[in-house]
Amino acid sequence: MSLTAVVLAAGLGTRMRSPLAKVLHPLLGRPMVGWIVGALQELGADVVVVVHHHEADVRAALAPWNPRFARQEAPRGTGDAVAAALAELPQSGPVIVTAGDTPLLTAASVRRLVAAHRGGVTVAAFEARDPTGYGRMVPGVGIVEDGACTAEQRQIRVVNSGLYVMDAAVLRRELPALQPHAPKGELWLTDLVGPDATVVADFVEAEFLGINDRGALAEARGVLRRRVNRAWGAEGIDLADLDTISVDVSVKLHPGAALGTGVVLTGNCDIAGEIGPHCVLHDTVVHAGAKVAAASICERAEVFPGAVVGPMARLRPGARIEGGAHVGNFVEVKNSVLHEGAKANHLAYIGDAEIGAKANIGAGTITCNYDGIRKNRTTVGAGAFIGSNSALVAPITIGDGAIVGAGSTLTQDVPGDAIAVERAPAKVSPGSADRLRRHYRALAGRE
Ligand code: UD1
Ligand code: CA
Repeated sequence: MSLTAVVLAAGLGTRMRSPLAKVLHPLLGRPMVGWIVGALQELGADVVVVVHHHEADVRAALAPWNPRFARQEAPRGTGDAVAAALAELPQSGPVIVTAGDTPLLTAASVRRLVAAHRGGVTVAAFEARDPTGYGRMVPGVGIVEDGACTAEQRQIRVVNSGLYVMDAAVLRRELPALQPHAPKGELWLTDLVGPDATVVADFVEAEFLGINDRGALAEARGVLRRRVNRAWGAEGIDLADLDTISVDVSVKLHPGAALGTGVVLTGNCDIAGEIGPHCVLHDTVVHAGAKVAAASICERAEVFPGAVVGPMARLRPGARIEGGAHVGNFVEVKNSVLHEGAKANHLAYIGDAEIGAKANIGAGTITCNYDGIRKNRTTVGAGAFIGSNSALVAPITIGDGAIVGAGSTLTQDVPGDAIAVERAPAKVSPGSADRLRRHYRALAGRE
């Protein structure tokens, strides 16, 4: 049986206080409305999204799902919104209708409502902790909106979730006949729900969390985080917990991967190795047997088997850390390769550089890659030793096996196996320290 779904996404969402369309706020790397459209497509539904505000943005953001769109000219209520989609609907057969701002709704719940549909109108309802604002399910009547309830009806806690299955023929017959409600002249979809409607009242309130402000957005994010993490756990991924780890839906994890507390993975990360607590990775590949230790930040980097990065390292775009290489604390690597077994263990900046296999980069080494105008390259040969606090002024090449003495500022190439030291001779005056201290004390005494 072919299934069509209408997603209502024409609302403005002023309470988000955001320049972004409400339904485009991201949840784990996917726009809010993408979660709903994705769930409906999972059921095989042909999805029509009703748009108005931010129409171009919503169309562009939903391109990966390629749904159909219908434009609601001037949003005049939920009945008007579905009427705007009529041209995109079949002549008859079941049509799912749902809001675009309830991203926690699962395919399983929608499937359950579709299974309960016997033609006509079927409504998903739940018992609300606080029914204020919802339409109430009134037996023998249908749905009565909050503002239209009698005092007695207001006590009813079983409410309309906003998820329906309605026959296309019913929509075609009844939507054009809807009468506007004062004071705003709105057309209400709920007027199609009469005493004969099928009501399935045992849905879970949490799945219908409507995102109207950023508090609810954060709440939804927390729920989705747990859901996504739980699913990865079932795939053999080791996760320190379900709540603090955040994995975008675009991320790929492989069995053997381990994620510490507070790890954030976004974009096209592809992880088979171990990621320590509080690391933030974007578009980064970590191979099996590689380790990124605590509090490291990586973007568009690749870490190969046996390599260790961090704790507190920063890999910027184009960092390639090959097998067995080490990048230690407070080391920044940008657009550079560390070949196998190369080590930069502490406090260094490696930019636009190629570091040969097993080379050792001492603490405080800086590749001076920028002359204020151009970016220049540094090449360090295999097995070279760069002493601590050296400045390698690029463009520069240090040959294989060369040794650079600590504290050198080098502006010229160093051949393989050479030793280069750039250092002013130290002036050492025996016995002078005490004389200097007495001099300072005397000065202080005069003040
Ligand atoms: C609606 C129901 C109410 C139900 C509640 C569940 C009606 C009249 N009432 O009320 O019974 O308990 O949902 O959350 O339907 N939209 C459009 N175009 C419009 C108006 C709304 O696309 O012209 C979209 C909104 O962006 C939103 C959805 O429809 O995604 C629901 O609209 P909203 O105004 O939030 O309806 P409620 O007042 O919550
Ligand atoms: Ca010097």
